[in-house]
Amino acid sequence: MTMISLTRPNLADLPGYEHALAQGWSPNTDQDVSREQLEQLRRNPAQFLHDLYSSPTIRLPNGRDVPRLPAHDFWISDGEFCGRIGFRFQPGTEELPPTSLGHIGYAVVPWKQRRGYATQALRLILPIARAEGFSRVMVTCDETNEASRKVILANGGILDGRFPHASLTGKIKLRFWVPTAE
Ligand SMILES: CC(C)(COP(=O)(O)OP(=O)(O)OC[C@H]1O[C@@H](n2cnc3c(N)ncnc32)[C@H](O)[C@@H]1OP(=O)(O)O)[C@@H](O)C(=O)NCCC(=O)NCCS
Repeated sequence: MTMISLTRPNLADLPGYEHALAQGWSPNTDQDVSREQLEQLRRNPAQFLHDLYSSPTIRLPNGRDVPRLPAHDFWISDGEFCGRIGFRFQPGTEELPPTSLGHIGYAVVPWKQRRGYATQALRLILPIARAEGFSRVMVTCDETNEASRKVILANGGILDGRFPHASLTGKIKLRFWVPTAE
């Protein structure tokens, strides 16, 4: 199996991210941000990287700005850009604000899917959560998202409940806890 690595988002590797956006890939799952990000990236690459990962606030889908949580964001690489994964948290507590559905979010570009990359990426980010003091992390996915559910289960995820999606009526989310050590 091809091994992947997690790399810090950086200007030198931004063309791979740009290419993915240009193919219509959206790094966010609940909202298609592909076109909007591509425009911002092309307008000012360095500013784009800063706004995406380091700005003090983030804009919610409803337009409201909220403080950015501490986070460790990465790009997934097999030599080429494959996707993203991020861990965000509130120090000292497992609690998350209602605007964050889970500690970890990820997405793999379609042409790199079904190679075990998301499963590997989640495995690689768990020690980072552990180093921040977390013995387990919460990860949620749509009930219909079989691929994501398998990624979570392959990393030891334990189902903790089902709940209705906050904004999309009829959609059900699953909540899992994933231990950060075997
Ligand atoms: C979910 C996602 C990240 C999985 O990425 P991936 O790198 O293809 O995942 P893996 O290759 O590690 O596959 C994990 C398992 O899911 C299965 N799988 C992958 N894509 C699948 C699909 N479209 N339908 C059904 N099963 C799928 C794989 O076969 C594998 O199963 P196995 O363990 O039985 O072999 C990717 O499909 C994606 O980016 N989807 C859109 C964004 C998203 O849903 N993010 C997660 C939000 S919670």
